[in-house]
Amino acid sequence: MDKFLIRGGRRLSGTVAISGAKNATLALMPAALLAGGVFRLRNTPVLRDVNTMSSLLKTMGMKIELEDDQLTLDTAGVDKHEAPYEYVKKMRASIYVLGPLIARFGRAKVSLPGGCAWGPRPVNLHMEGLKKLGAQIDLKGGYIIAQAKRLTGARIHFDISSVGATGNVMMAAVLAKGHTVIQNAAIEPEITALAHFLVAMGARIQGIGTNRIEIEGVDELHAADADTIPDRIEAGTFLVAAAITGGRVRLESANPDHLTAIITKLEEAGCTINTGPSWVSLETPQTLKAVDVTAAIYPGFPTDMQAQWTALMAVAQGTSIVTDSIYLDRFKHVPELIRLGADIDLKENAAVVRGSSKLTGAKVMSTDLRASASLILAGLVAEGTTEVLRVYHIDRGYEAIEKKLQAMGADIERVAGEEF
Ligand code: UD1
Repeated sequence: MDKFLIRGGRRLSGTVAISGAKNATLALMPAALLAGGVFRLRNTPVLRDVNTMSSLLKTMGMKIELEDDQLTLDTAGVDKHEAPYEYVKKMRASIYVLGPLIARFGRAKVSLPGGCAWGPRPVNLHMEGLKKLGAQIDLKGGYIIAQAKRLTGARIHFDISSVGATGNVMMAAVLAKGHTVIQNAAIEPEITALAHFLVAMGARIQGIGTNRIEIEGVDELHAADADTIPDRIEAGTFLVAAAITGGRVRLESANPDHLTAIITKLEEAGCTINTGPSWVSLETPQTLKAVDVTAAIYPGFPTDMQAQWTALMAVAQGTSIVTDSIYLDRFKHVPELIRLGADIDLKENAAVVRGSSKLTGAKVMSTDLRASASLILAGLVAEGTTEVLRVYHIDRGYEAIEKKLQAMGADIERVAGEEF
């Protein structure tokens, strides 16, 4: 199992090209199940999660090829409608096949995702939304068994704004008979990207980008192409990488509009940020100030950046409170950051971070994707060598992170190790 060796203390400086968004790609790929034909997704990131989704869709009969950053999906041969446990347990986004399968083929068998490394992650809203559209859903042997002759449009109100449930229900409703209204829909850019892709496939959707989405179902969709939006979490992570080392960075192929909450917090911390249509630059001040954040639904500060912000606050001047209002238990990185010398207390769903810590290298363990990113960031500024074990988590969601960091001057190497 690979690990990263990071010799900290280098001030990072350089330009980073941001890859396509993992969470958009993982929604667009299963959307291809909704029609027969050949789809092309450009700006696809090379990631373990994209590989996992490819393998899963291939088991259903899809042909998939990745050439450079273009993913070609040929859905003509899709004849199986099951997402086995082996895939879903590796990647919860596998649940995205549920809506398209039930809508197009009238049946789906999808393993129920379990909890995640940091706590429970239910899918009740996905199932309730699909039931409203007329699907019959049973739980048997750890699987969601869904059936429907033809879905029918419905009025759906989500109690909680959920990215996945909005995506799944939207993908189902585009082929349902009649009109669907989704209220309290997620407005994350990845959901907006999915809606635009569905429209390119012939779907009739209004209110895209708002929390009230209206869909007029159609009888059939057709294949389409898409350019995947930039990954806002990768972008945020590289901005923090520059800031935590007292450095500077220019992000290319980024979308600053998707980064407003992150940029605002970095500015409050004292960073100077400039933006253009597809770039963002950051310069770090002499001293970073402590800044509270509360992770919330978009356009709030992303929960997927909470761990990285906690690492940054460990070295900022002053005390800050980092709260997560989406995943109340998402703090597995905290004990590991403490091993590197961070001064953090956990109080329910908030980390009280006393800054100005001098971090020192140690062996630390990745527990999940974003926790791993926070440990790498801390390692970049820690004195001595930090070993980040179990980096397969990072490979799920960051394309060649060590190469991009090396290009900015970081001393980081990937080492094949037996240790885990
Ligand atoms: C997506 C992202 C993930 C991100 C998360 C929140 C993908 C592939 N993953 O995950 O990176 O951290 O959004 O921005 O896009 N909930 C329920 N019942 C449900 C579904 C969700 O109670 O059926 C709750 C969750 O526990 C959570 C909140 O709703 O508290 C939001 O979760 P959701 O937006 O659904 O996250 P995911 O789509 O799983």
